[in-house]
Amino acid sequence: MQTKLNYDKIAPEYNQRYPDSQTWQRGQALLNLASQLKAKTILEAGSGTGFWLNMLHQVTPQLYGLDFSAGMIEQARKQPAPIKLTRGTATHLPYQNVTFDLLYCVDAIHHFGDHHAFIREALRVLKPGGALAIIGHDPHEVDPSNWYIYNYFDGVYETDLRRYPSGKSVVNWMNADGFQNVTVQEVERIVNIHVDEGVFNDPFIKHNATSQLALLSAERYQLGLGKIQEALKQARARNERLVFRSQISVKMFLGTK
Ligand SMILES: C[S@@+](CC[C@H](N)C(=O)[O-])C[C@H]1O[C@@H](n2cnc3c(N)ncnc32)[C@H](O)[C@@H]1O
Repeated sequence: MQTKLNYDKIAPEYNQRYPDSQTWQRGQALLNLASQLKAKTILEAGSGTGFWLNMLHQVTPQLYGLDFSAGMIEQARKQPAPIKLTRGTATHLPYQNVTFDLLYCVDAIHHFGDHHAFIREALRVLKPGGALAIIGHDPHEVDPSNWYIYNYFDGVYETDLRRYPSGKSVVNWMNADGFQNVTVQEVERIVNIHVDEGVFNDPFIKHNATSQLALLSAERYQLGLGKIQEALKQARARNERLVFRSQISVKMFLGTK
C-alpha cells in the first residue's frame, strides 16, 4: 500500500476536521506550553492549513509554518494570523541555527519519512531553553481493536506501523541528541462510539478525512465499507447491535534544548 499522501488534493476540504464548536485539548496543551515558555518565535513543522498557528497568535505574532504541500500552504494563507509560510521538508528545515523558542508538529511526524532527521533539525534551529513538542498518536502502543478503522480496512494498521515512529524511539532519539527533561504525556483522548449504521455518520470514516483512509485506493476503501456492511448484516441476523469504537490517545513528546 502507498504510504505518501498527496495533501494538495485534499487541502480544500481539510479544515472540515476543525468544526467551530469543538474544544481541542491538544490545542490547550500547546497554548499552555507556548505561554509557559513565553515563546516569541514559534515554528510548526507540517503546519497544514495553519489551524494551530492561528490559535497561537494570542501568544506571539512571530509565527512560522513549514509544509511540503503547496495546496495546504495556500489554505494557511487564509488564516487571519500573519503566518510566515514556507514550502519545504521537515527533515531539512530552511531556517538558521538558534531561531525558535518553540517548535512543534501535530499529526505530522509520520509523514516526514526520516523521523530522526527531523528531531536533529529541531535541535539545531531551537534556541537554548527552547522546546520541541511532537503531538500525535502512537499505533505501536495501542491494541488495534481500539479503532474500528484498523479492523475493517485491510492494511491500514500495518501501514501505520511503518509510517509512525514508535514513542520509545522518539524518546530515545531526543535523549541521545541532547534534549533535556524529555517527557511523554497524554494531552487528549478521543473516545467515540458509533452503533450499527450510525458508523456511517462518523466524520472520520470519509475517504479523505484521515491519511489512514486517504491512502487507500477507491477500490480498497470500498472493500472496507463492504466489510462493515457485511458485519452489520450478520449482526442483524443474530439480532445483535454492533458497536464501532474509536479510542485514541494523543500524546505529546516534549523536550527542551
Ligand atoms: C495531517 S496533516 C497535519 C496538519 C496540521 N499540523 C494539523 O494538525 O492540522 C500533515 C501535514 O504534514 C505535511 N507534510 C507531509 N510531509 C511533510 C514533510 N516532509 N515536511 C513538512 N511537511 C510535511 C502535509 O503536507 C500536511 O499538511
